[in-house]
Amino acid sequence: MANATGLISAYATCTGRRNLSSYGISRSGFLSVERNMKRVFLCSAVEGVEGHASGAPSSKPRASRLLGKGCKLVGCGSAVPELMISNDDLAKIVDTSDEWISVRTGIRNRRILSGNETLTGLAIEASRKALHMAQVEPDELDLILMCTSTPDDLFGSGPQIQKELGCKRNPLAFDIRAACSGFLLGLTTAGSFIRAGGFENVLVIGADALSRYVDWTDRGTCILFGDAAGAVVVQACNDDENALLGYDVHSDGDGQKYLNATIKDKEAENVLGSNNGAAGFPPGLSSYSCIQMNGQEVFRFAVRCVPQSIEASLVKAGLTSSSIDWLLLHQANQRILDAVATRLRIPSDHVISNLANYGNTSAASIPLALDEAVRGGKVQAGNIVATAGFGAGLTWGSAIMRWG
Ligand code: ACO
Repeated sequence: MANATGLISAYATCTGRRNLSSYGISRSGFLSVERNMKRVFLCSAVEGVEGHASGAPSSKPRASRLLGKGCKLVGCGSAVPELMISNDDLAKIVDTSDEWISVRTGIRNRRILSGNETLTGLAIEASRKALHMAQVEPDELDLILMCTSTPDDLFGSGPQIQKELGCKRNPLAFDIRAACSGFLLGLTTAGSFIRAGGFENVLVIGADALSRYVDWTDRGTCILFGDAAGAVVVQACNDDENALLGYDVHSDGDGQKYLNATIKDKEAENVLGSNNGAAGFPPGLSSYSCIQMNGQEVFRFAVRCVPQSIEASLVKAGLTSSSIDWLLLHQANQRILDAVATRLRIPSDHVISNLANYGNTSAASIPLALDEAVRGGKVQAGNIVATAGFGAGLTWGSAIMRWG
């Protein structure tokens, strides 16, 4: 699999476990500080067992730790598929053009899963990079949140990722399904587990393969999406170091009609024989329809709700938009990024955008763009990043965080 950040030479040269300065992260004394915090939580969540649940695990709890109520981001990583599809490639299969797509969306290329690639594989690659940057071993993870709406396993991919990463203490791993808001909700969920539950190291993954649910004959949607994965490590710290400064999250099921991929039943005979149709039991195998979207309504929703949400997060953080070093929105459409930046009076050179290369990668877009910006030296330690996710559900939310 290609490295999304393979464009950035710093990655290849700066992966030493003790040298995080090139990522903008200073960890000097960090562990010793946090392990001596005053606030005490019982870490039942991390008192895992070694070995596999299916075997006879030996009960070997990790020592209870003294944790603070803050949390900070200490590492990021990303991965994208090999196969790149350009606008010109799409123009060969639907009635569109590079000019229309790039002018209306800013997108020029996207990556699509192919061959033996899996979404879980991308998520694992992104996770390993994030753990490496964070200097956190898989065994130190207390929780894995896999934010995806397109898992390889209907029941969730989190536990599979946990296994592949080699987390022997069986930390909790589960999926969060909230489309393009998934990563943002994963981030705030990580913060909640750390603050209320005594968890210390939480891996938050945003990964999606919407190419699986795109109607490749629909030029209104197939031009938008790409596949990718990104991950961050969120770590407990004391209150003084807290870097998740404020957040705001919402949903509105009434807007589901504007963006969905709902379940549809296949003909019963395809699956379970012919004697199940009349009574409706047993039911036929189900699948999901392709993505249905009213682009204009989704556009209006994003441009209206995202600035409001960021302003609400700023208030909670006790900051104003002039404090924002980087605006990092879900990478849906350059015109949405521009409109939100204009409303918040954020100059365009403070807006992170990589959608030209990857399109809308749903839950992956924020951690993918963050990873590129960190490894490329744009986002530096201490920078204030305003991030926001929005999409199907409808769901949306924002967070103000300090990197490093
Ligand atoms: N190529 C050429 N023409 C096109 C294409 C295309 N790919 N797609 C649409 N058109 C045509 C339409 O048919 C229409 O033609 P008409 O005027 O003859 O009827 C014309 O272009 C304008 O179509 P609109 O839909 O009005 O175009 P718009 O400027 O709204 O752009 C777009 C469409 C890019 C989808 C935009 O609405 C958008 O980005 N919306 C937001 C989508 C989004 O952000 N989703 C995020 C969430 S995704 C998730 O959560 C899973």
